[in-house]
Amino acid sequence: MHKTKILDGNEFIYKAPDTKILSDGSFTWKAPSNIALVKYWGKHGMQLPKNTSISFTLDACHTITTLEFRNHTKVGSISHKNELNFNVYVDDQRQDDFKPKIAAFLTRIKNYVPFLDDYDLNIKTHNSFPHSSGIASSASGMAALALCIMSMEKELNPSMSDEFFYQKASWLARLGSGSAARSIKGSIVVWGEHPGLKGSSDLFGVEFPHEVHTNFHNFHDTILLVDKGQKQVSSTVGHNLMHEHPFAGQRFDQANENISKLSAILQNGDLKAFVALVESEALTLHAMMMTSNPYFILMKPNTLSIINKIWDFRKKTGATICFTLDAGANVHVLYPEKEKKSIHKFITTELLQFCQNRHYISDRIGAGAKNLTK
Ligand code: PMV
Repeated sequence: MHKTKILDGNEFIYKAPDTKILSDGSFTWKAPSNIALVKYWGKHGMQLPKNTSISFTLDACHTITTLEFRNHTKVGSISHKNELNFNVYVDDQRQDDFKPKIAAFLTRIKNYVPFLDDYDLNIKTHNSFPHSSGIASSASGMAALALCIMSMEKELNPSMSDEFFYQKASWLARLGSGSAARSIKGSIVVWGEHPGLKGSSDLFGVEFPHEVHTNFHNFHDTILLVDKGQKQVSSTVGHNLMHEHPFAGQRFDQANENISKLSAILQNGDLKAFVALVESEALTLHAMMMTSNPYFILMKPNTLSIINKIWDFRKKTGATICFTLDAGANVHVLYPEKEKKSIHKFITTELLQFCQNRHYISDRIGAGAKNLTK
């Protein structure tokens, strides 16, 4: 096994012999969604983050993707069709509307996985959460597809180390959607170089490099579906608005300081400090949106009702419960395993009334992507 030190990503340019081709086949991977605790909001260059982020990997919310490939070149031939030929299926239905996004992704990663040109591809994908839940499938979807592509590369280049496999998978996923870099490996994932986190990189996500306190084992995330509609402002637009944002510099510094604080909290198990930091991060993300030019608000009245209910309940009972938000109106309610009984009761009796059709997803911290190839 060779070990490659990744410096700038050029190490990920495909190097296996061009004459080797695979026979027809397929790979299947299951990749999880993730929820950021310290948020990534603002990027530069080719999907590089302006600050470090940390996420909990989820379990129930995931994408399962099968990549079928059929070679259309002759063994030993060096002539490539030099174009991408693929179809996308979601829940066994062909979905041509998804093709432009996937085509843009495949074009972006082409240099790093040029062998894809030799194959006709069928990308067959299934999300565990409904498409219309307002939960973004881009992180788990891009991660699952990137892993399938890496399984092809591994067949072509079997000497590749596991470390290289997962780093390149995260690198590829990141080029599809930034937060997808955190949907590959580990239950707590860091993306973005940070001096306090050994091995961390802007190029790919890595597992949180320290031992995590038992308070955070099996942590729960109940996702309250407040608004299942399409977001009015995409995260691509939101990230770009950070370029001219008057508070951008302070925000990036604050996020990097919050990473140091959260790193200590995850190790020492200080749940009170966790609650304060995670909620502040969520509200800061939305404050950035509200102070962009043009400004926008993704929270809904029910998002605020839930937040207030959580604060009241915490004040009354002293429970360890907090919320976080991604770029939308849905609320992620986070709490430790040992308080799950009372908190489930609170969620059912007090919070579900604010969800669309009382819909929610019971999720928890997960272990990362899984190869389901038969
Ligand atoms: O991966 P993107 O480009 O959709 O950005 C995700 C941004 C947030 O979800 C708001 C924060 C994060 O770190 O996941």
